[in-house]
Amino acid sequence: MANTLFHAERRIAQRARSLNSSAIREILKLTERPEMISFAGGIPSPASFPLAALRDASARATHASSADAFQYSATEGYAPLREWIAREHSSRQHPVAPSNVLITSGSQQAFDLIGKVLVDPQSAVLVERPSYPGALQSLSLYEPEFVSVQTDEHGMVSKALEYVEPERAALLYLQPNFQNPTGARLPIQRRRKIAEIAQRTRLIVVEDDPYAALAFDGGQSLPTIHSMAPDNVIYLGSFSKVLAPGLRVGYMIVPGALQKKFVQVKQAADLHSSTLSQRIVYESVRGGLLATHVPRLASFYREQCAAMLSALDAHMPEGVHWNVPEGGMFIWLALPPDIDSAALLEDALALNVAFVPGAPFFARDPLHHFLRLSFATVSPQQIDCGIERLAALINAYSRAFTPVFDLDLDR
Ligand SMILES: Cc1ncc(COP(=O)(O)O)c(C=O)c1O
Repeated sequence: MANTLFHAERRIAQRARSLNSSAIREILKLTERPEMISFAGGIPSPASFPLAALRDASARATHASSADAFQYSATEGYAPLREWIAREHSSRQHPVAPSNVLITSGSQQAFDLIGKVLVDPQSAVLVERPSYPGALQSLSLYEPEFVSVQTDEHGMVSKALEYVEPERAALLYLQPNFQNPTGARLPIQRRRKIAEIAQRTRLIVVEDDPYAALAFDGGQSLPTIHSMAPDNVIYLGSFSKVLAPGLRVGYMIVPGALQKKFVQVKQAADLHSSTLSQRIVYESVRGGLLATHVPRLASFYREQCAAMLSALDAHMPEGVHWNVPEGGMFIWLALPPDIDSAALLEDALALNVAFVPGAPFFARDPLHHFLRLSFATVSPQQIDCGIERLAALINAYSRAFTPVFDLDLDR
C-alpha cells in the first residue's frame, strides 16, 4: 500500500509539487474546538449575514417556474447581475460596460484565471510585502518569480514601483482598501502614481478590492486605480464580505483587449459559476439591500475593531506595535524582532487562543515576528479575554530573551 502511494506521489506534476496547503486553512482546522478564541479566520461574522433577505432572495431565485435557475448558463455570467455590477461601478467610479464584467466563483478563482492568462514560468509578479496568501498560493501554480515591492503602513510605496522594472513584469497584484493582512488603505496620491506608472510602462495591475465597503467611517470610498487607468487594470470584486462567502460569487472587470481570453479560460476551468448562486446574489441586491446592509456591517466591524484596539492598549507589553485600521477585518501586530510568531502560536493554541503567524503573508524572505489578528467573529468579551492571554504569553517570551538593541529597518 505504502509502495503504491509512493509511486502515485511521484506522478504529481512539477507545478503542484511545490504547492503548500494554505497555512490559514490549516490553522482554521485546529480552531474548531468550541473553547478556542480564534482571531485566525479572515471570515465574515455569521452574525452579519442578512439571512432573512438571503432566504427571500433564494425563494425568488428558485421560484417553481424558474427551471433556468438550475440550468447551465453563460460563461460570462448572469446578464442582469453583470448589468447591476456595471451600473454600480459606473455610478461611483469610471463607466463600466456589462461586457467588461466576468462573474467568477469568488475572487479566488480570478487569481487562477489571471495566472493562466498572464503568468509564464519565471515571469515577474510584483506583490506587496506582506500580501494575501490566497493570491500568492494560487499564482504560485504558474511558477512566477515573485518580486516584493516596498510597503509601509499606508500600503504599497508607489515610488518604489519604479525600481522593480514594472515594464518587464507580468503583473502587479495589490489591495487598495483595508489590506489583508495590514489593514492599510492606499492614499489617493499613491493610487494616481501607480496608475501613471502602469500606463507609462504598460503594466497590468490586479486591483483586489473585497473590503472596500467595510469602511468604518461609512464615507465616500477613494477612487479605484481602475477608474484612473481602466485599460491597465483588472479589478476584482466579491460578494463574500458584503453578503455571504458560501455563495462563491465574485467578479472581474477586465480591459476589452483581454476579455475574450479570460472568457475562454473560465470556460475551460468550470464552464460558468453557479447559476443558482448568481441569481440569489442578483435577487438579493437588485432591490437595494446593500444600501441598508453595508452601513450596518461597517458599524458592526467598527465596534469589533474598537474592542480589539482597547484590549491591545490595555494588555500588550512594551515593544509590541500594531496598526489602527480604518476598515476591514484585520490588525497586523509586530512583536519584538526576536519572537517567532509561529512558535508563539504553538503555546497560544495550548491556551485556546489562535491567530495567523506572519510568515505566509510574505512572498519571499519572510519576517517571523509579525502576526495577523482578525476581530470579525469573536465577541468583545472574548476579544478582551483572548488578547489578555496572548499578551501574557508575549510578555513571558519577551522576558525569556535578552534585549537586542539594533534597529530592524525592515519593520
Ligand atoms: C484579499 C482577499 N482577496 C480575495 C479573497 C477571496 O475571496 P472570495 O474568493 O471569497 O471572493 C479574500 C478572502 O478572504 C481576501 O482576503
